[in-house]
Amino acid sequence: METLNLILLTLHNLTRWVVLILGIWAIGRAVKGWLGKQTFTSADNRSGLLFTTAFDLQVLFGLILYLTRGWGGVLFQGFGAAMREAALRFFALEHIFIMLIALGIAHMARTLSKKAPTDVQKHRRAALGFGLALLLTLAAIPWPFLAQNARPWLRLFGLQI
Ligand code: HEM
Repeated sequence: METLNLILLTLHNLTRWVVLILGIWAIGRAVKGWLGKQTFTSADNRSGLLFTTAFDLQVLFGLILYLTRGWGGVLFQGFGAAMREAALRFFALEHIFIMLIALGIAHMARTLSKKAPTDVQKHRRAALGFGLALLLTLAAIPWPFLAQNARPWLRLFGLQI
């Protein structure tokens, strides 16, 4: 595999863990603040900002990979054939589509949370929106235990676990 591609795939693999950890952290803070009726602090705002920023970065790596590894071309070469083949359909359509929706929901949750009139509502909107975004993300990751499209837990260039 070309070096630049391997670097990007490594970054996309590792940033996935950063996105998941920051997502769990932001949701944890939001749920605690919502149920405990706590003040919405700058630390709460920062946890949402870090989650959405890591998500943006991950999507950027993903979009570059999508273009450079020819997944977009798969759709143009034969849409019907690609749709019938689960292995092609996953990366050509499902992964990008679900991840873009999850990204949109995460950003919308942050905006709506900031605009909410009360602190409890700020926490609630962040908890529900980030929670939905994380669930979609978990569902669209090519986990190693999947029968098709399985990818490693960790990738460090040539090394895979
Ligand atoms: C628009 C958003 C995204 C696009 C276009 C995208 C695209 C891709 C592409 C093209 C691959 C490589 C497939 C291959 O040729 O082997 C890939 C792999 C992967 N994607 Fe994404 N992705 C996106 C978002 C995400 C997000 C948000 C996550 C998780 C937070 C994620 C997790 C992964 C993982 C874990 C792999 C496997 C990496 C490996 O092989 O080591 N992706 N993605």
